[in-house]
Amino acid sequence: MKPATGKLGVLCVGLGAVSTTFIAGVLSLRKGMGLAGGSVTQLAKIRVGRGNDRKYLKIGDLVPLCDLNDMVFGAWDIFPQNAYEAALGAAVLHPDDLSPVSKELENIRPMTAAFDATFVSRLAGQGDHTKQGTRQELIDQLRSDIKTFRNENKLDRLVVIWTASTEKFIDYKEHIHGSLQAFNEAIASNDCNNISPSMCYAYAALSEGVPFVMGAPNLCIDIPAMWQLAEENAVPIAGKDFKTGQTLMKTVLAPMLRTRCLGLDGWFSTNILGNRDGEVLDVPENFRTKEVSKLGVIDTILKADEQPELYSDVFHKVRINYYPPRGDNKESWDNLDIFGWMGHRYGMQIKVNFLCRDSILAAPVVLDLVLCIDLAARAGLKGNQSWLAFFLKSPMHDAANHEEPLNDLFQQYTVLKNKLRELGGYEPDEELE
Ligand SMILES: NC(=O)c1ccc[n+]([C@@H]2O[C@H](COP(=O)([O-])OP(=O)(O)OC[C@H]3O[C@@H](n4cnc5c(N)ncnc54)[C@H](O)[C@@H]3O)[C@@H](O)[C@H]2O)c1
Repeated sequence: MKPATGKLGVLCVGLGAVSTTFIAGVLSLRKGMGLAGGSVTQLAKIRVGRGNDRKYLKIGDLVPLCDLNDMVFGAWDIFPQNAYEAALGAAVLHPDDLSPVSKELENIRPMTAAFDATFVSRLAGQGDHTKQGTRQELIDQLRSDIKTFRNENKLDRLVVIWTASTEKFIDYKEHIHGSLQAFNEAIASNDCNNISPSMCYAYAALSEGVPFVMGAPNLCIDIPAMWQLAEENAVPIAGKDFKTGQTLMKTVLAPMLRTRCLGLDGWFSTNILGNRDGEVLDVPENFRTKEVSKLGVIDTILKADEQPELYSDVFHKVRINYYPPRGDNKESWDNLDIFGWMGHRYGMQIKVNFLCRDSILAAPVVLDLVLCIDLAARAGLKGNQSWLAFFLKSPMHDAANHEEPLNDLFQQYTVLKNKLRELGGYEPDEELE
């Protein structure tokens, strides 16, 4: 394992609500202000050793994590506003909380974005801080941005994380996304329908040997072509879609139903959200990408094929409604129609009303993913880091090779802890805490 010495560059694709809340939070923590609430790498303690030998270590004491003081932030966005202006505009953190770090935030000015409005139609004509060119030219310009950022800031290591808008749904196509060779040919022929801007960022990062994390549900790195590129360049990747609100709850509630053998007829989930993310997701093609990511989670937890009498006919529906008055204050409602003893259904419902600031939940997840993927890179791990599924709504997995995604939050936590134990030189185990 390489030490976590030197500077770590963190390049956020998209300088919006999530990324500015993340950056402002880290800058505040560096000044001894605020609480890293929700951040597992900063607050959790993991047991190592068994019986009388057990002790509880913070993750940073178990494995060498990058010090928050060693992080250098940069970004790309289609709007030229600096991180302070963008954070004020996103209106997640209060101006009083932002002012102590306003100077540092002002110095973070986004680089021009690789953008194609057909992938995020709601932003068409809204921002012109963009690059021009074919897909290959965009990749070349992004690679040059990464090199310049690395050299100017004298960085030892880098991570690129997608915190930009959700792109429209694109179908996986074997003849384009199925191998690196086919993908390279599609880039060469400037196949703008099947090579999304997010793929250009990921391709550029991996080509530069930089780990990449996909925080939205975009197809992007969840394709064999990117896995091959990551393997060949020995770079770790993780994705997709930050697991924060409603889906976090789902991956706690569904295991409860399964372990108590309670049946499920239907699960209806709806949301109201008024920030730019909500505006983008108001377009059916963009919502489709999110819908697929949100719908997948309960099937792999409930496993209808193993318990058909309980879960063979679950009606699962997810809705997101753009409602501007709420801004970033998301509200979600879930209704579960369940059944139990004697197949009794009458009066058997669970209602969940979850109210949260979306980006307050996402920012610590961004920090944890950045620190863990950097750890993975220093440990020489490459390709998909499935142990990071704990943070992700739709964990990447190799379905063609019969891999199943792990969605149960507590199983994901066991996997995460065991990987950290292993990286820290301890034995993995499942002893009760
Ligand atoms: N907040 C959460 O809890 C949560 C959870 C899971 C996933 N996400 C995802 O995280 C992403 C960011 O969410 P947000 O609330 O910060 O959204 P946001 O709209 O506030 O910020 C996204 C930013 O990305 C920029 N952008 C769009 N396309 C770009 C491109 N090609 N290159 C560079 N910049 C680009 C936009 O201009 C915008 O400033 C979204 O995809 C969202 O779905 C958020």
